[in-house]
Amino acid sequence: DKGEFRHFMLKEIYEQPRVMQAVLEGRTASGLLLEQAFGSGASAVFDQVKQVQIVACGTSYHAGMVAKYWIEDLVGIPCMVEVASEFRYRPVVLPEGTLLLTLSQSGETADTLAALREVKQRVLATLAICNVPGSSLVRESDLSLMTNAGPEIGVASTKAFTSQLVALMLTTIALGRRHSLTAERETELIAALQQLPELLQQLLQLDGAIEQMSTHFAEKHHALFLGRNSLYPVAMEGALKLKEISYIHAEAYPAGELKHGPLALVDKEMPVIAVAPRNGMLDKLKANLQEVRARGGELFVFAGCEQSIQPEDGVHVIHLPEMPAILDPIAFTLPLQLLSYHVAVLKGTDVDQPRNLAKSVTVE
Ligand code: F6R
Repeated sequence: DKGEFRHFMLKEIYEQPRVMQAVLEGRTASGLLLEQAFGSGASAVFDQVKQVQIVACGTSYHAGMVAKYWIEDLVGIPCMVEVASEFRYRPVVLPEGTLLLTLSQSGETADTLAALREVKQRVLATLAICNVPGSSLVRESDLSLMTNAGPEIGVASTKAFTSQLVALMLTTIALGRRHSLTAERETELIAALQQLPELLQQLLQLDGAIEQMSTHFAEKHHALFLGRNSLYPVAMEGALKLKEISYIHAEAYPAGELKHGPLALVDKEMPVIAVAPRNGMLDKLKANLQEVRARGGELFVFAGCEQSIQPEDGVHVIHLPEMPAILDPIAFTLPLQLLSYHVAVLKGTDVDQPRNLAKSVTVE
C-alpha cells in the first residue's frame, strides 16, 4: 500500500528515518555494538579476519564500495570490492583470513549467490548483509546481519541501500575493535548512527528545493556526477538512480578524474552534480567545479553545512544540515534519491517499474 504517496519509491525514501531505527534496534547496548547480531560464532570469526572481500551487484555493490573506505580507514585491514558477475568467473586470489561479505537486498541475486557458492570453501567465513530473512544468501552464509528495512517494492533501491550502509558501519566497528578502533571511538560512531533518524528527517525537508532543482534536468540527455572519497560511490549510486528511473544517461567520476577525460564532454547541455561535504577534499573539489563552470556547464552542488559554496549564475547549491562526517555517505544519498525521483516524475516515466528492469535478478 502506497498510503499517501504517489509511488512506492517515494514512500520508501520517506521511510528511511524509521528504517535507520530498525537497523540499529537491538544491535547496541550502552553505546557499544552487540556482536550477537551477526549470529552465533561471529565473535570467534571476527577475531581471525585479516582482510575482507565484498561481492555484490548494482546498488548493493555501491554500498560495498563505501564500506571499503570505512574498513581501510577505521579498521586498517585490506578490503576488496567487486561486482559478483566478474568475481564469479575469474580465478580470484583469496589470502588466508579472508571474510567474504556479500550484500544483497533480495538475497536471491543469481550472480551474488553463485559467487558465494564458488568460493565458500576457500575463505575463512562468509557473512551476508541482506534485507530478506530466510533468503538463499542468508541460508547459505555462515553469518548474517539483517538490514530490517522492510519490503522494498520500487525497483530502484533506496532504503535497502542506506540500511546496508548502517549494517556495514556495524561490521566495520566489529572488525575495528580487533584493530585500531578504540572503545571511545566506537561509542562516538554508535552515537553518530543514532542521530540518523533525526538527520534523515531533516534531509527530507529539502524535498521542495530538490523538486525545484529537478526542473533543470527534465530536458537533458546526459548528466555527470562527481564525488571524492567515500562520496565517490555515492555519486555512482546517484547516477545509477537517474539512469534507472529517468532514462537520462548519467555517469559518475571521482572528481579528480575530471580532467583525465570527461571534462571534454562538459558544455551547457551537460549538467554536473557534485556532492561536496566539508572534509579536506573540499578545496580540490572546488577547483574541479571551476573547471566545469569555465566550460559553461551548469553545476548542482549538494554541500556540507559550513561550506562556503554560494549559489551564483549557473551554480545551484543545496546545503545539508550539520552532521558527523562519518554519516556523509548515508546523508548525501537521500537528496540524490529525491532528485532522480522528481526528474522521473517530470519525465512521466514508470517510476516504480522502470522499463527493462526486474526487482530481483534471479537469472544471470
Ligand atoms: C538498483 C537496483 C539494482 C540492485 C541489484 C542487486 O536500484 O535495485 O541494481 O541493487 O540488482 O540486487 P540485490 O541487492 O537484491 O542483490
